[in-house]
Amino acid sequence: MIPPRAGGASPAAPRPEDRRPPALSVERLDVSYGPVRAVAGISFDVHASELVALIGPNGAGKSSALRAITRLVPIAGGDVRLFGSSIRQVPAHALPRRGLVLVPEGRHVFGELSVLDNLRLGAHTRGGRDMAEGLERAFGLFPILRERRRQAAGTLSGGEQQMLAIARAMMSQPKVLLLDEPSLGLAPVVVKQVFDLLRRLHASGVSMLLVEQNARMALAVADRAYVLQAGHIVASGPAAVLAADDAIRRHYLDVATAPAVAARSQPV
Ligand SMILES: Nc1ncnc2c1ncn2[C@@H]1O[C@H](COP(=O)(O)OP(=O)(O)OP(=O)(O)O)[C@@H](O)[C@H]1O
Ligand SMILES: [Mg+2]
Repeated sequence: MIPPRAGGASPAAPRPEDRRPPALSVERLDVSYGPVRAVAGISFDVHASELVALIGPNGAGKSSALRAITRLVPIAGGDVRLFGSSIRQVPAHALPRRGLVLVPEGRHVFGELSVLDNLRLGAHTRGGRDMAEGLERAFGLFPILRERRRQAAGTLSGGEQQMLAIARAMMSQPKVLLLDEPSLGLAPVVVKQVFDLLRRLHASGVSMLLVEQNARMALAVADRAYVLQAGHIVASGPAAVLAADDAIRRHYLDVATAPAVAARSQPV
């Protein structure tokens, strides 16, 4: 483990012109599974329209953090704020309406349903007109899904299913989008398409928290990043600064794309 750097574990200071509360603020978050403390009091922010990456090796606690933020596992300690308001008491199903949506690891599209019905499910909290506009927006971002709209989602390629999972999340017009390993298991050319898509979503202004083992690509699209190791944030800063840092490169960029990840990431 590399030593925490100066300012490493504290959230970045808000820009002077931006005194609004962060879009997402995680404060001393703890997540435990029985005796296993998966996340040990981490704090970080995602500001409006920011793309923040959370990187780190297998078992670091990245998915646990996302699951606790979206209330899929209990918050054992600390708090999570959305635009300044605590969501600690808000149940998971009510979060999309508040603007917070998770694209979980492993895509989870409804394989028997058509692409169109998967997208409609993503917008079930919204009315007819929003639905039509949402579909147009989704098809604008993902032209391939328009072509495949009548096809059963289970028959899409892995990359297309990932696009669909993200498009479905976008149907509820999230203000904060959390993504857990969107590139996992995809062939390199498809990984590039997914990251191109993340860039376009970022340009559209949605705030994003991106969990990735592909740290190199995550740092290439992110504004800022936090490095999680064994439940602790061990470094943070502007993504470009972290990407150029020798210790980060040695510990998380070169190693993070080596065998452990390759073994989990069979191209589809
Ligand atoms: N449901 C669970 N029950 C018990 N322990 C769990 C559970 N889920 C995760 N853990 C443990 O919590 C720790 C963090 O796991 P987590 O899945 O959050 O890591 P991660 O950073 O997402 O890893 P990966 O990169 O492999 O997805 C690991 O030690 C893991 O074994
Ligand atoms: Mg994970």
